[in-house]
Amino acid sequence: MKIAVSGKGGVGKTLLSAFLARAFAAGGNRVIAIDADPDANLGATLGFPDAGKIVPISHLKDLIRQRTGAEETAGGLYFKLNPKVDDLPDDYSVSHDGIRLMVMGEVKKGGSGCYCPENALLNSLMSHLLLGRDDVVIMDMAAGIEHLSRGTAQAVDRLIIVVEPGQASMETALRVKQLARDLGIKELAVVGNKVHGADEEAYIRKGTEGLDMLGVIPYDPGLVDAQMKGLPVIRSQVIKSSVDAIYTKLIAQPIK
Ligand SMILES: Nc1ncnc2c1ncn2[C@@H]1O[C@H](COP(=O)(O)OP(=O)(O)OP(=O)(O)O)[C@@H](O)[C@H]1O
Ligand SMILES: [Mg+2]
Repeated sequence: MKIAVSGKGGVGKTLLSAFLARAFAAGGNRVIAIDADPDANLGATLGFPDAGKIVPISHLKDLIRQRTGAEETAGGLYFKLNPKVDDLPDDYSVSHDGIRLMVMGEVKKGGSGCYCPENALLNSLMSHLLLGRDDVVIMDMAAGIEHLSRGTAQAVDRLIIVVEPGQASMETALRVKQLARDLGIKELAVVGNKVHGADEEAYIRKGTEGLDMLGVIPYDPGLVDAQMKGLPVIRSQVIKSSVDAIYTKLIAQPIK
């Protein structure tokens, strides 16, 4: 199963991605967690030691030059659009607690789509991860879903949009929904997060009517406490039990 997680800044995309990765790994799956947010913190959330030291793929200039054969000539910049990438998940990932993590870095933006060696490598890698392997992939994205392209988006089995009680995240959800449709992602789902009770849950359910609601995660005050003490948030049992229910629902749904 290939899952992408998106939504407004701060709604809990990384939290959900981390707990989902854990749930799939506990279910006996080979899991690759992909940090596709330029402001990467999935590794830290998953409790990876030295998470801050992982160099994102988009920063590996030598690798990018080598694989794409990028060469500046008098006639312009030449590089391969389909560089070899199938060995990168082994060589450029870190593993911890049964989860393999890859950190992508930022996608360069340009006027009408940026054709540059960095993007050619990232796009080929994304394509390989989504289409060329059978590991479960959980991708933590920013609201812009830049790491997906027309060619790779269709391989996403489910784009989960995280929302919290409040209009701003609902509006972002609608924007992400439109981006997803434009890219050809058919299966959209919603998860409500930071929910303080029945009224807030009802608010989220009403605001996302028409989208597949996978479940809600309560607000856990213990997370703030854990973060202040520098403890990994992945230990929260409150979050774990609600994300485990979401996982159970996800694996019960057929992939179209
Ligand atoms: N259910 C929850 N209960 C309490 N705190 C939460 C909950 N979900 C997320 N948080 C806290 O909210 C903050 C944002 O969560 P997280 O980093 O997962 O969001 P994000 O959508 O990935 O943010 P960003 O857009 O910055 O990547 C974190 O400090 C996290 O611990
Ligand atoms: Mg995040």
